[in-house]
Amino acid sequence: STRDRPARVMSHWSEADPEYSYILGMQAFGMEEAGHYQQAEARALQCVSLNPKDTWGVHALAHCYEMQGKTKNGISFMQDCEDKWANNNYLSIHNRWHLSLYWIENCEFETALQMHDQYMAVSPQSEMMDMHDSAALLWRLHLDGVDVGERWVPAANNYENYLDQAYMPFNDMHAMMSMVATGRDQQADKLVAALEDNLDGSTASSDIIKLAGLPIVKGIRAFGRADYETAKTLLANARHNAHMIGGSIAQRDVINLTLLEAAIRSGDQSMANGLLAERTLMKPSSPLSDMFGARANAAVAD
Ligand SMILES: [Fe+2]
Repeated sequence: STRDRPARVMSHWSEADPEYSYILGMQAFGMEEAGHYQQAEARALQCVSLNPKDTWGVHALAHCYEMQGKTKNGISFMQDCEDKWANNNYLSIHNRWHLSLYWIENCEFETALQMHDQYMAVSPQSEMMDMHDSAALLWRLHLDGVDVGERWVPAANNYENYLDQAYMPFNDMHAMMSMVATGRDQQADKLVAALEDNLDGSTASSDIIKLAGLPIVKGIRAFGRADYETAKTLLANARHNAHMIGGSIAQRDVINLTLLEAAIRSGDQSMANGLLAERTLMKPSSPLSDMFGARANAAVAD
């Protein structure tokens, strides 16, 4: 894993090596994804203090703050060294996305939306990874009750080129969000059909589609159709296999948030409170969780 590979070679490296920070940054991210948040945070801090321009180290630290609900630390860190990570590198847009997540955690949705428009808006030339950042942010804002208007259209147009590939369910999850949000029903059918066509192979990819990709994609589609019971059943089961589709824990958290919103909209206070308790364990002080909690209780009181 990304945690263990750097560990195997670490003894061969030292601060004397100009690329040492990149090993530290990779290990920090691997530790973070494996749940060793405090060790990961210390390693990421070591990385960026050695090389403040190591954008993977910045990214690893952003993940550590995200997962532990250290929103204030995340915002001040990212803002203080913005000139080091925000320009001309592979992760500049994705690190913007991480900063936007902190604003969302604080219920500062307008700031997150402005960041989307300024830095994450999709064009026909956008890379797939950057399309995912836009789609994931818009979907989260949509779950939070923000009207994002026509912002989905450019990403949906781009995703249409990949609907029949069944190449990577992590891509398909974001593609389905854009199809749902733009009401592209036939294209959503095409995406589901492509995944179903690849269910019966004997490859690892078929297992990923079966256990995670297809139920997650269909769950998002059901959510879009306001069929919250189906969305709940599909997502509640598949979320435990979600690591199979790739991406980070922070990126896959959008599945939990969609399930939470489906629970709230269907008046399932028990599921909503269970999911919120999971969040509170990791993020004890979160205006976003407070907002969802208030809505879960209000839905029952209605
Ligand atoms: Fe990330």
